[in-house]
Amino acid sequence: MKVFRDTKKQHQWSLKEHSKGLKPGLVPTMGFLHKGHLRLIQNAKEYSDRVVVSIFVNPTQFSGGEDYNKYPRDEERDLELLEEEGVDAVFIPEPLEMYPEGYETYVVVEELSKKYCGRSRPTHFRGVTTVVLKLFNIIQPDVAIFGEKDYQQLIIIKRMTKDLNLPITIISSPIVREEDGVAMSSRNKYLNPEERKKATVLYESMKEAQRLVANGITDVDALKKEMIKIIEKKEHLRIEYIEFVEPETLKRVKKVGASNRILMAVHIGRTRLIDNMKIKGQAE
Ligand code: PAJ
Repeated sequence: MKVFRDTKKQHQWSLKEHSKGLKPGLVPTMGFLHKGHLRLIQNAKEYSDRVVVSIFVNPTQFSGGEDYNKYPRDEERDLELLEEEGVDAVFIPEPLEMYPEGYETYVVVEELSKKYCGRSRPTHFRGVTTVVLKLFNIIQPDVAIFGEKDYQQLIIIKRMTKDLNLPITIISSPIVREEDGVAMSSRNKYLNPEERKKATVLYESMKEAQRLVANGITDVDALKKEMIKIIEKKEHLRIEYIEFVEPETLKRVKKVGASNRILMAVHIGRTRLIDNMKIKGQAE
């Protein structure tokens, strides 16, 4: 497994693989890897000839008061896991390699970035699209894999790829959950045992909405009310948003159909968790 910390070396390696007729697939991550990330790598193997994983805690997607400094990191363990997965190359740049002195260029997907998570994190998606475009330029993948866990991020990346005519296929990978339904996330590490127990309410409330829709309730306000009831049974939780949306445009719906998606963000103590679920047709 090659490990590159230098953008030029990573770029040269990718060009060389291309010249052999091999297609690189990219899995971008911020490290502290878990089974959700590993699932994306397995997916990448199906769709490409060489798998590159990037590990970079991207400063531009965190705002001032956020957790950039305390975001969990464990490079040694990550590299071991990637080696076991049979990854071909890992790109781990230092912040200054990605954002040298004087850096001032950003790419913004205008409207999609303002919605939902963008309301409480106004510069977050600008940071995500910028770093992902930079990773695409450096690594030159034919395919890139993103998890449905960050559903708004996935849709924004698809929009950017289309809008900028990038010759890259974006593949989405389903959410990997813990046994009790909590979506795997590097940020779950912030939860104390009591908070971790409460974290199941996101999954439980979405499952309840799914059940109600299956029983013929399609009014979004009624569904939200039932979800809020479940969440409010637990103390010290704060709902940031619950939305029912069209899967591709993320436009809000008033009446729910099978293809729609529930998106939600809830604060548990000091930790902000996001989750989402398709209304129907998903084994979750
Ligand atoms: P990170 O949170 O490390 O996630 C990397 C990728 O793993 C994303 O595509 C995310 O959706 C996916 N992922 C995380 N948890 C998952 C789960 N439980 N099931 C399935 N997929 C999961 O998302 C980022 O990093 C960054 O914003 C990044 C795209 C790397 C840009 O900096």
